[in-house]
Amino acid sequence: MTTNQSTAARYAVFGHPIAHSLSPRIHTAFAAQTGIALEYTAIDAPPAQFAAILDAFAAGGGRGGNVTLPLKEAAFALCAQVSERARIAGAVNTLVRNDGQWHGDNTDGAGLVRDLTGRQGLDLRGRRALLLGAGGAARGVAPALLDAGVLELVVVNRTPERADALVDALGQPGRAHSRYWDDLADQGDFELIVNATSAGRSGDAGFNAPFTLVNSRTLAVELNYGEVAIPFLAWARAAGCRDVVDGLGMLVEQAAEAFELWHGVRPDTGPVYEALRAQNARLVTAD
Ligand code: ATR
Repeated sequence: MTTNQSTAARYAVFGHPIAHSLSPRIHTAFAAQTGIALEYTAIDAPPAQFAAILDAFAAGGGRGGNVTLPLKEAAFALCAQVSERARIAGAVNTLVRNDGQWHGDNTDGAGLVRDLTGRQGLDLRGRRALLLGAGGAARGVAPALLDAGVLELVVVNRTPERADALVDALGQPGRAHSRYWDDLADQGDFELIVNATSAGRSGDAGFNAPFTLVNSRTLAVELNYGEVAIPFLAWARAAGCRDVVDGLGMLVEQAAEAFELWHGVRPDTGPVYEALRAQNARLVTAD
């Protein structure tokens, strides 16, 4: 079914910059697959203008949005209601227009877990997990990792206070702990290491952490994809991680979670992921 621009409901992804976002392509593919008429665009929103841009979008019939860097915390603040997982994250990546208000959710964690357990066929249960970073991305995935049954979650961040705050928000003192980055060598080994820092995006060359973090079962996950993911993925391979996964599958799965929230239909992510993966060498931005 082709979309009818005059009646199609309006959706968009907001970010700054946004030109390279894959979300319009992903949602347009989901819409074609499920026969749902929608228009999905990428809207550049400088942080200072985001609230006004979102208001104008709603006034023009906008029914839902995705939010990416650097606006996820701002989106959280603009919502009348948020889901529990968005509240813990303090960040919103999915907006739903309901009764003239924005409702916020965060599908990043569910998307990550679905990619790892579904597409990659990996079992997260019982794994000792290390989460690197405590920004919006880390806060989005941490609750889902606990829900997925990891044994323990150790959070390490360059600024330790943010790791402490994340662990407090998780509310599971028996399972989630913060540690200092400088003490990584004393933390033993992990079966799951998730890089949720933006170090690769800031152009920092290389990623450094002790190889002693890795054991023969370690799954290493980078939440970014494309060129910015390369330093951590290279470290993970050099350290001998058994499985190494980038964030492309998570991107597609978090989009599917959002699509289901909006339209009540779960799309088949397989073909969309395969098409993007085939072009991954050309993808250079995080979404
Ligand atoms: P995002 O939404 O991608 O999480 P963010 O909220 O700005 O973006 O968080 C960026 C994360 O990457 C933070 O954990 C940040 O550490 P700080 O809290 O200390 O700033 C981390 N980060 C960024 N650059 C880094 C670097 N060069 N080395 C280590 N951590 C870095």
